[in-house]
Amino acid sequence: MIGLRRVAPDEFTLRLDSVLDVYTAAMNPPSDQLSGRKAIMRNHAAHPGFTCLFAETSDGTPVGVAYGFHGDPGQWWHDVVRRAIAEKNGEGSARGWLGDALELAEIHVHPDYQGKGVGRAMITGMCTGRLERTAVLSTRDQPTAARHLYRSIGFVDLLTQFIFPGGYERYAILGVVLPLSE
Ligand SMILES: CC(C)(COP(=O)(O)OP(=O)(O)OC[C@H]1O[C@@H](n2cnc3c(N)ncnc32)[C@H](O)[C@@H]1OP(=O)(O)O)[C@@H](O)C(=O)NCCC(=O)NCCS
Repeated sequence: MIGLRRVAPDEFTLRLDSVLDVYTAAMNPPSDQLSGRKAIMRNHAAHPGFTCLFAETSDGTPVGVAYGFHGDPGQWWHDVVRRAIAEKNGEGSARGWLGDALELAEIHVHPDYQGKGVGRAMITGMCTGRLERTAVLSTRDQPTAARHLYRSIGFVDLLTQFIFPGGYERYAILGVVLPLSE
């Protein structure tokens, strides 16, 4: 039995090792990237409107983690994506999608628990009750479970085949108007 629990920034920061365990199991990243990822996550916990859900087994072990925050100018992802959308689709589109947005930064489910509705429940749970106009995120631009799941929730493509500065993998930037439709 998996339950969802909202986790405050302080607890999220204290339990970053557990968060990284889920992230590592789900994403299988190169090990030399983990300390940098941990620092980025710690920094994210201080962003305004931070919200986090843990999906936990009955003994309290996290098997899923999702978090996001209110996007603001000065945040790296926000500034890069806003500029790119403005260049491709115009300033009005950039303002419309990113001017008042919940930015979903990370959503991961341990492989042993994937395909059971945990990811869907975490995304809808994070969006529920938010006052922002939109929710936005980036994900690898490939036919993944994540891409399928976001589309089925109502996310649309804002940018495709997008390469972040300093990166090489291609991402899709997605957005949905809040509140989510039933
Ligand atoms: C993306 C992720 C969070 C989804 O979590 P989850 O608990 O497995 O998601 P759910 O069970 O709620 O839904 C998965 C959906 O994807 C579908 N799916 C599973 N594998 C798929 C695949 N290879 N291709 C397309 N769709 C797939 C499932 O059928 C389900 O869709 P449905 O509800 O229409 O049947 C999880 O797969 C994961 O952690 N992946 C690795 C990390 C990652 O990519 N995170 C997102 C980064 S942006």
